[in-house]
Amino acid sequence: MQQHVVIIGGTSGIGLAAAEILIREKFKVTISGRDPQRLANAGNRLRNQAKAVAVDAANATAVAGLFDSLGSFDHLVLAFGSNKGLGPFATIGAEDLRLSFAEKVFPQFGCAQAAQKFLNPRGSITFLSAVSAFGAMPGAAGIGAANGAIATMVPTLARELQPLRVNAVAPGVIDTPWWNWVAPDEKAALFADFAAKTPVGRVGTPEEIGQAISFLIINGFMTGQTIVCDGGIRLS
Ligand SMILES: NC(=O)c1ccc[n+]([C@@H]2O[C@H](COP(=O)([O-])OP(=O)(O)OC[C@H]3O[C@@H](n4cnc5c(N)ncnc54)[C@H](OP(=O)(O)O)[C@@H]3O)[C@@H](O)[C@H]2O)c1
Repeated sequence: MQQHVVIIGGTSGIGLAAAEILIREKFKVTISGRDPQRLANAGNRLRNQAKAVAVDAANATAVAGLFDSLGSFDHLVLAFGSNKGLGPFATIGAEDLRLSFAEKVFPQFGCAQAAQKFLNPRGSITFLSAVSAFGAMPGAAGIGAANGAIATMVPTLARELQPLRVNAVAPGVIDTPWWNWVAPDEKAALFADFAAKTPVGRVGTPEEIGQAISFLIINGFMTGQTIVCDGGIRLS
């Protein structure tokens, strides 16, 4: 029977790329995000082969409503995050640090919790962490702490929720709208700098992270694992 994947944060970047790959792999796919226009654009890009439902992952009532409306499903992908918590340790503000957890860690945790009673016990959850949790990157202590919190949950949940499989992907620098907070002319220079620090010599594509997500969903022997898919930038 066709398996159903729900991707929260599926209207852009990595989540949208994962949706495209999983549709090709013959999964039934539901994508979700907050902005109705982004949702409509993503639906069009997927040629209406995915169900598109608006939700704010930080709103527990709305998340419960989403899962109630979908009923049982097989795999959950939590592909939304936060760009807060970046900057030198000496100057990062408490509110910025709080938001890095409030926009990513708490809602990923909450969505995973709320999905429990709807998830196929032989299915999976895939969280999105980041390389900032694994590389020693000056200026990333705050955002790295939030992404580290997500990666830390993974092995524990893989045991506590077994046989449900629980994994994460920790991307390196990926060219997605996540970077829209950087001015376009500065983004090219920033990406060139990241590419120079990355062993494969470039930043990544959302499709490359979508492939890692798809692998974790399809391979029934993978659990408790965070795949760092970063072109090697964590080594620099
Ligand atoms: N791009 C990178 O270089 C990079 C590197 C490391 C880790 N990551 C992580 O990878 C994940 C995906 O990032 P991306 O690059 O694909 O970003 P993106 O292109 O900005 O996409 C983020 C997606 O999440 C949705 N979203 C954000 N907040 C949401 C909320 N509260 N409720 C529901 N949906 C929400 C967005 O739609 P709406 O805004 O319409 O809600 C959008 O669909 C994030 O966890 C990010 O931290 C990215």
